[in-house]
Amino acid sequence: MAEKLRQAKRFIITACGTSWHAGLVGEYLIESLARVPVEVEYASEFRYRNPIISPDDVVIAISQSGETADTLAAIREAKLKGATVIGMVNVVGSTIARETDAGVYLHAGPEIGVASTKAFTSQLCVLTQFALYLGRMRALSAEQGMAIAEELVNIPEHITRILDNVEPIKTIAKEYSRASNFLYLGRGVNFPAALEGALKLKEISYIHAEGYPAAEMKHGPIALIDENMPVVFIAPKDEIYEKVRSNIEEVRARNGRVIAIADEDDDRIADVATHVIRIPRTLPMLTPILASIPLQLLAYFIAVERGCNVDMPRNLAKSVTVE
Ligand code: M6R
Repeated sequence: MAEKLRQAKRFIITACGTSWHAGLVGEYLIESLARVPVEVEYASEFRYRNPIISPDDVVIAISQSGETADTLAAIREAKLKGATVIGMVNVVGSTIARETDAGVYLHAGPEIGVASTKAFTSQLCVLTQFALYLGRMRALSAEQGMAIAEELVNIPEHITRILDNVEPIKTIAKEYSRASNFLYLGRGVNFPAALEGALKLKEISYIHAEGYPAAEMKHGPIALIDENMPVVFIAPKDEIYEKVRSNIEEVRARNGRVIAIADEDDDRIADVATHVIRIPRTLPMLTPILASIPLQLLAYFIAVERGCNVDMPRNLAKSVTVE
Protein backbone atom coordinates (compact mmCIF):
# COMPACT_ATOMS: atom_id res chain seq x y z
CA MET A 1 0.00 0.00 0.00
CA ALA A 2 2.88 2.41 0.74
CA GLU A 3 3.57 3.22 -2.90
CA LYS A 4 -0.12 3.68 -3.64
CA LEU A 5 -0.45 6.09 -0.72
CA ARG A 6 2.65 8.01 -1.79
CA GLN A 7 1.30 8.42 -5.33
CA ALA A 8 -2.29 9.24 -4.31
CA LYS A 9 -3.48 12.56 -5.76
CA ARG A 10 -6.60 12.74 -3.61
CA PHE A 11 -8.22 11.04 -0.64
CA ILE A 12 -11.97 10.62 -0.37
CA ILE A 13 -13.28 9.80 3.09
CA THR A 14 -16.71 8.24 3.20
CA ALA A 15 -18.74 7.30 6.28
CA CYS A 16 -22.00 7.91 8.16
CA GLY A 17 -22.95 9.62 11.42
CA THR A 18 -20.21 9.88 14.02
CA SER A 19 -17.72 8.20 11.69
CA TRP A 20 -18.41 10.94 9.14
CA HIS A 21 -17.62 13.55 11.80
CA ALA A 22 -14.30 11.78 12.41
CA GLY A 23 -13.74 11.97 8.65
CA LEU A 24 -14.12 15.76 8.75
CA VAL A 25 -11.38 15.93 11.38
CA GLY A 26 -9.35 13.58 9.17
CA GLU A 27 -9.67 16.00 6.26
CA TYR A 28 -8.14 18.74 8.35
CA LEU A 29 -5.34 16.46 9.62
CA ILE A 30 -4.38 14.94 6.27
CA GLU A 31 -4.52 18.24 4.39
CA SER A 32 -2.43 20.06 6.98
CA LEU A 33 0.18 17.33 7.58
CA ALA A 34 0.42 15.76 4.12
CA ARG A 35 -0.80 18.63 1.91
CA VAL A 36 -2.94 16.30 -0.23
CA PRO A 37 -6.54 17.23 -1.10
CA VAL A 38 -9.20 15.39 0.85
CA GLU A 39 -12.93 15.22 0.28
CA VAL A 40 -15.36 13.92 2.88
CA GLU A 41 -18.70 12.61 1.82
CA TYR A 42 -21.70 10.94 3.43
CA ALA A 43 -21.65 7.36 2.16
CA SER A 44 -25.38 7.59 1.48
CA GLU A 45 -24.80 10.50 -0.93
CA PHE A 46 -21.59 9.17 -2.45
CA ARG A 47 -23.10 5.88 -3.48
CA TYR A 48 -25.98 7.38 -5.45
CA ARG A 49 -24.43 10.35 -7.22
CA ASN A 50 -22.13 8.55 -9.66
CA PRO A 51 -18.98 10.12 -8.14
CA ILE A 52 -15.97 10.99 -10.28
CA ILE A 53 -13.20 8.65 -9.13
CA SER A 54 -9.84 7.98 -10.75
CA PRO A 55 -7.31 5.21 -10.10
CA ASP A 56 -5.11 7.87 -8.41
CA ASP A 57 -7.73 8.29 -5.70
CA VAL A 58 -7.64 6.49 -2.40
CA VAL A 59 -11.01 6.07 -0.72
CA ILE A 60 -11.06 5.71 3.07
CA ALA A 61 -14.14 4.11 4.62
CA ILE A 62 -14.56 4.77 8.35
CA SER A 63 -16.92 2.57 10.34
CA GLN A 64 -17.23 1.34 13.91
CA SER A 65 -19.39 -1.67 13.08
CA GLY A 66 -17.98 -2.42 9.65
CA GLU A 67 -21.52 -3.34 8.62
CA THR A 68 -23.16 -0.01 7.75
CA ALA A 69 -25.11 -0.60 4.53
CA ASP A 70 -24.48 2.82 2.96
CA THR A 71 -20.74 2.73 3.71
CA LEU A 72 -20.49 -0.76 2.30
CA ALA A 73 -22.29 0.29 -0.89
CA ALA A 74 -19.99 3.33 -1.19
CA ILE A 75 -16.84 1.19 -1.07
CA ARG A 76 -18.27 -1.20 -3.65
CA GLU A 77 -18.94 1.80 -5.94
CA ALA A 78 -15.39 3.13 -5.38
CA LYS A 79 -13.82 -0.27 -6.12
CA LEU A 80 -15.90 -0.66 -9.26
CA LYS A 81 -14.49 2.65 -10.48
CA GLY A 82 -10.91 1.58 -9.84
CA ALA A 83 -10.04 3.35 -6.59
CA THR A 84 -7.97 1.78 -3.86
CA VAL A 85 -10.12 1.44 -0.76
CA ILE A 86 -8.82 1.52 2.79
CA GLY A 87 -10.91 0.69 5.85
CA MET A 88 -10.71 2.20 9.33
CA VAL A 89 -12.95 -0.22 11.14
CA ASN A 90 -13.46 -1.32 14.73
CA VAL A 91 -15.13 -4.70 14.45
CA VAL A 92 -12.53 -7.27 13.44
CA GLY A 93 -13.55 -9.44 10.49
CA SER A 94 -16.62 -7.31 9.67
CA THR A 95 -17.83 -6.96 6.08
CA ILE A 96 -16.16 -3.58 5.43
CA ALA A 97 -12.91 -4.88 6.91
CA ARG A 98 -13.06 -7.85 4.55
CA GLU A 99 -14.07 -5.96 1.42
CA THR A 100 -11.47 -3.17 1.58
CA ASP A 101 -8.06 -3.52 -0.08
CA ALA A 102 -6.23 -2.76 3.16
CA GLY A 103 -6.98 -1.11 6.44
CA VAL A 104 -6.36 -0.22 10.04
CA TYR A 105 -8.38 -1.60 12.92
CA LEU A 106 -9.41 0.98 15.53
CA HIS A 107 -8.77 -1.41 18.44
CA ALA A 108 -11.28 0.41 20.63
CA GLY A 109 -12.63 -2.91 21.94
CA PRO A 110 -16.32 -3.84 21.69
CA GLU A 111 -18.49 -0.73 21.79
CA ILE A 112 -21.75 -1.73 23.44
CA GLY A 113 -23.69 1.53 23.89
CA VAL A 114 -25.57 2.58 20.77
CA ALA A 115 -24.09 6.08 20.79
CA SER A 116 -20.56 5.94 19.48
CA THR A 117 -18.02 7.24 22.00
CA LYS A 118 -14.71 5.41 22.29
CA ALA A 119 -14.90 4.46 18.61
CA PHE A 120 -14.93 8.19 17.79
CA THR A 121 -11.85 9.01 19.86
CA SER A 122 -10.09 5.95 18.42
CA GLN A 123 -11.00 7.06 14.89
CA LEU A 124 -9.40 10.44 15.59
CA CYS A 125 -6.24 8.78 16.92
CA VAL A 126 -5.97 6.46 13.92
CA LEU A 127 -6.60 9.34 11.51
CA THR A 128 -3.86 11.37 13.23
CA GLN A 129 -1.40 8.49 12.82
CA PHE A 130 -2.47 7.96 9.23
CA ALA A 131 -2.02 11.68 8.47
CA LEU A 132 1.41 11.55 10.12
CA TYR A 133 2.36 8.56 7.97
CA LEU A 134 1.23 10.33 4.79
CA GLY A 135 2.94 13.52 5.94
CA ARG A 136 6.27 11.81 6.49
CA MET A 137 6.06 10.39 2.93
CA ARG A 138 5.75 13.97 1.75
CA ALA A 139 6.84 17.27 3.29
CA LEU A 140 6.59 16.69 7.05
CA SER A 141 9.98 16.69 8.79
CA ALA A 142 10.95 13.98 11.27
CA GLU A 143 11.08 16.62 14.00
CA GLN A 144 7.55 17.92 13.32
CA GLY A 145 6.26 14.35 13.07
CA MET A 146 7.88 13.34 16.36
CA ALA A 147 6.39 16.34 18.19
CA ILE A 148 2.88 15.24 17.15
CA ALA A 149 3.52 11.56 17.87
CA GLU A 150 4.88 12.37 21.33
CA GLU A 151 1.85 14.49 22.19
CA LEU A 152 -0.47 11.75 20.92
CA VAL A 153 1.12 9.46 23.51
CA ASN A 154 0.14 11.97 26.23
CA ILE A 155 -3.54 11.97 25.21
CA PRO A 156 -4.66 9.05 27.46
CA GLU A 157 -3.20 10.81 30.49
CA HIS A 158 -4.97 14.05 29.54
CA ILE A 159 -8.25 12.13 29.21
CA THR A 160 -7.75 10.54 32.63
CA ARG A 161 -7.42 14.04 34.10
CA ILE A 162 -10.70 15.09 32.49
CA LEU A 163 -12.40 11.95 33.84
CA ASP A 164 -11.05 12.66 37.33
CA ASN A 165 -12.94 15.94 37.46
CA VAL A 166 -16.45 15.45 36.11
CA GLU A 167 -18.35 17.26 38.90
CA PRO A 168 -18.46 20.64 37.09
CA ILE A 169 -19.93 18.90 34.03
CA LYS A 170 -22.56 17.19 36.22
CA THR A 171 -23.55 20.53 37.75
CA ILE A 172 -23.93 22.15 34.34
CA ALA A 173 -25.94 19.15 33.12
CA LYS A 174 -28.37 19.55 36.04
CA GLU A 175 -28.87 23.23 35.27
CA TYR A 176 -29.60 22.69 31.58
CA SER A 177 -31.32 19.31 31.53
CA ARG A 178 -34.73 20.85 30.83
CA ALA A 179 -33.58 22.93 27.84
CA SER A 180 -35.37 22.16 24.57
CA ASN A 181 -32.62 23.23 22.20
CA PHE A 182 -28.83 23.53 22.21
CA LEU A 183 -26.36 25.07 19.81
CA TYR A 184 -22.79 23.71 19.49
CA LEU A 185 -20.16 25.93 17.91
CA GLY A 186 -16.49 25.46 17.08
CA ARG A 187 -14.07 26.52 14.39
CA GLY A 188 -11.47 24.78 12.24
CA VAL A 189 -10.78 21.26 13.43
CA ASN A 190 -13.27 21.76 16.26
CA PHE A 191 -16.22 22.38 13.95
CA PRO A 192 -16.66 18.59 13.48
CA ALA A 193 -16.27 18.22 17.25
CA ALA A 194 -19.24 20.61 17.61
CA LEU A 195 -21.27 18.49 15.17
CA GLU A 196 -20.42 15.39 17.16
CA GLY A 197 -21.30 17.03 20.50
CA ALA A 198 -24.70 17.98 19.10
CA LEU A 199 -25.29 14.48 17.73
CA LYS A 200 -24.48 12.88 21.09
CA LEU A 201 -26.96 15.13 22.90
CA LYS A 202 -29.70 14.45 20.33
CA GLU A 203 -29.17 10.71 20.39
CA ILE A 204 -29.26 10.06 24.10
CA SER A 205 -31.24 12.93 25.65
CA TYR A 206 -33.69 13.65 22.78
CA ILE A 207 -32.92 17.36 23.03
CA HIS A 208 -32.77 19.14 19.69
CA ALA A 209 -29.20 20.28 19.06
CA GLU A 210 -27.35 21.70 16.07
CA GLY A 211 -23.66 22.14 15.37
CA TYR A 212 -22.26 25.00 13.29
CA PRO A 213 -18.92 26.56 12.51
CA ALA A 214 -18.90 29.42 15.05
CA ALA A 215 -18.51 32.09 12.38
CA GLU A 216 -21.63 30.87 10.57
CA MET A 217 -23.71 31.88 13.59
CA LYS A 218 -24.14 35.40 12.26
CA HIS A 219 -25.52 34.04 8.98
CA GLY A 220 -28.71 32.74 10.56
CA PRO A 221 -28.57 30.79 13.85
CA ILE A 222 -27.97 34.04 15.77
CA ALA A 223 -31.69 34.69 15.36
CA LEU A 224 -32.31 31.82 17.78
CA ILE A 225 -30.15 33.17 20.60
CA ASP A 226 -31.87 34.10 23.84
CA GLU A 227 -31.69 33.03 27.49
CA ASN A 228 -33.37 29.71 26.62
CA MET A 229 -30.80 28.61 24.07
CA PRO A 230 -27.65 27.24 25.74
CA VAL A 231 -24.65 27.52 23.43
CA VAL A 232 -21.68 25.18 23.82
CA PHE A 233 -18.45 26.62 22.45
CA ILE A 234 -15.26 24.65 21.87
CA ALA A 235 -12.66 27.33 22.48
CA PRO A 236 -9.08 26.06 22.91
CA LYS A 237 -6.25 28.56 22.63
CA ASP A 238 -5.40 28.06 18.98
CA GLU A 239 -4.79 30.51 16.17
CA ILE A 240 -8.50 31.41 15.95
CA TYR A 241 -9.11 31.68 19.69
CA GLU A 242 -9.71 35.45 19.61
CA LYS A 243 -12.32 35.02 16.85
CA VAL A 244 -14.12 32.39 18.92
CA ARG A 245 -14.03 34.70 21.94
CA SER A 246 -15.74 37.41 19.95
CA ASN A 247 -18.38 34.87 18.83
CA ILE A 248 -18.95 34.12 22.54
CA GLU A 249 -19.36 37.83 23.25
CA GLU A 250 -21.95 38.08 20.47
CA VAL A 251 -23.97 35.33 22.14
CA ARG A 252 -23.69 36.91 25.60
CA ALA A 253 -24.75 40.30 24.20
CA ARG A 254 -28.04 38.62 23.23
CA ASN A 255 -28.62 37.11 26.69
CA GLY A 256 -27.42 33.70 25.53
CA ARG A 257 -25.83 31.37 28.09
CA VAL A 258 -22.47 29.96 27.10
CA ILE A 259 -20.79 26.74 28.18
CA ALA A 260 -17.18 27.01 27.01
CA ILE A 261 -14.80 24.09 26.69
CA ALA A 262 -11.46 25.78 27.19
CA ASP A 263 -7.82 25.13 28.04
CA GLU A 264 -7.05 24.70 31.73
CA ASP A 265 -4.62 27.63 31.62
CA ASP A 266 -7.00 30.04 29.88
CA ASP A 267 -7.50 32.69 32.55
CA ARG A 268 -9.55 35.03 30.31
CA ILE A 269 -12.36 32.73 29.21
CA ALA A 270 -14.35 33.07 32.45
CA ASP A 271 -14.75 36.80 31.68
CA VAL A 272 -16.96 35.99 28.71
CA ALA A 273 -18.44 32.49 29.23
CA THR A 274 -21.24 31.62 31.70
CA HIS A 275 -19.66 28.23 32.53
CA VAL A 276 -16.23 26.85 31.73
CA ILE A 277 -15.26 23.20 31.35
CA ARG A 278 -11.49 22.79 31.38
CA ILE A 279 -9.41 20.46 29.23
CA PRO A 280 -5.61 19.98 29.42
CA ARG A 281 -3.56 21.97 26.94
CA THR A 282 -2.53 19.95 23.86
CA LEU A 283 -1.60 20.58 20.24
CA PRO A 284 -4.46 22.40 18.46
CA MET A 285 -4.91 19.56 15.95
CA LEU A 286 -5.45 17.08 18.81
CA THR A 287 -8.02 19.21 20.69
CA PRO A 288 -11.07 17.45 19.14
CA ILE A 289 -9.99 14.24 20.90
CA LEU A 290 -9.95 15.96 24.29
CA ALA A 291 -12.99 18.19 23.67
CA SER A 292 -15.11 15.20 22.72
CA ILE A 293 -14.79 13.75 26.26
CA PRO A 294 -16.63 16.59 28.09
CA LEU A 295 -19.09 16.76 25.18
CA GLN A 296 -19.89 13.07 25.61
CA LEU A 297 -20.12 13.48 29.39
CA LEU A 298 -22.40 16.50 29.10
CA ALA A 299 -24.78 14.53 26.86
CA TYR A 300 -24.53 11.55 29.25
CA PHE A 301 -25.28 13.50 32.46
CA ILE A 302 -28.14 15.42 30.81
CA ALA A 303 -29.64 12.14 29.57
CA VAL A 304 -29.36 10.54 33.01
CA GLU A 305 -30.94 13.64 34.56
CA ARG A 306 -33.87 13.29 32.13
CA GLY A 307 -34.27 9.61 32.95
CA CYS A 308 -33.26 8.41 29.48
CA ASN A 309 -31.71 5.04 28.72
CA VAL A 310 -28.24 6.13 27.59
CA ASP A 311 -27.17 2.68 26.41
CA MET A 312 -30.15 1.95 24.23
CA PRO A 313 -31.71 5.18 23.00
CA ARG A 314 -35.06 4.92 21.28
CA ASN A 315 -35.28 4.38 17.51
CA LEU A 316 -31.55 3.73 17.07
CA ALA A 317 -29.60 0.59 16.23
CA LYS A 318 -25.93 -0.09 16.82
CA SER A 319 -25.38 -1.24 13.24
CA VAL A 320 -27.42 0.42 10.54
CA THR A 321 -27.61 -2.42 8.04
CA VAL A 322 -30.72 -1.06 6.31
CA GLU A 323 -30.70 1.54 3.56
O1 M6R B 1 -20.76 1.64 12.53
P1 M6R B 1 -20.58 2.93 11.84
O2 M6R B 1 -19.48 3.76 12.36
O3 M6R B 1 -20.47 2.76 10.34
O4 M6R B 1 -21.94 3.70 12.09
C1 M6R B 1 -22.21 4.93 11.51
C2 M6R B 1 -23.37 5.59 12.20
O5 M6R B 1 -24.53 4.82 12.06
C3 M6R B 1 -23.08 5.83 13.68
O6 M6R B 1 -21.91 6.56 13.87
C4 M6R B 1 -24.25 6.55 14.35
O7 M6R B 1 -24.33 7.87 13.89
C5 M6R B 1 -24.10 6.45 15.86
N1 M6R B 1 -25.39 6.22 16.43
C6 M6R B 1 -23.49 7.67 16.46
O8 M6R B 1 -23.47 7.68 17.84
